Amino acid sequence: MKLIIINGPNLNLLGKREPEIYGARGFEDYLKELQAEFPQVNLEYFQSNIEGELIDKLQEVGFSYDGIILNAAAYTHTSVGIGDAVKAIDAPVVEVHISNTHKREEFRHVSFISPGAKGVILGFGLRSYELAIRSFL
Ligand code: DQA
Repeated sequence: MKLIIINGPNLNLLGKREPEIYGARGFEDYLKELQAEFPQVNLEYFQSNIEGELIDKLQEVGFSYDGIILNAAAYTHTSVGIGDAVKAIDAPVVEVHISNTHKREEFRHVSFISPGAKGVILGFGLRSYELAIRSFL
């Protein structure tokens, strides 16, 4: 099974960024743990702070991969373009968030990704990504 985790803006700063919300662990470190935990999954990773690069990546993998785990981060709440890309591709997308966005500011309660997503997992810290992988298995 071929899956990719796509992380949006500022998620390259996990571990340093608002650790009281997002935790103290960097993503690269967590990714190694995921790859060891799911040896049967060909698990790729892509991160960008740039909206168009996220759309390009969704288009690139969206017609051949078995699934996409997408944390569009702040673009979740603003990007019609990423939401449209999720609807345009064939691969199922599971939307993931580290924090429970519904417990936070009202602008985070809106998602342009959810209408095109297969499902949404949020609020379990980095474990949200593990649960998303399990959903594909
Ligand atoms: C986030 C939640 C978003 O509201 C925020 O802009 C992020 C991270 C999360 O994983 O909890 O950057 O997607």
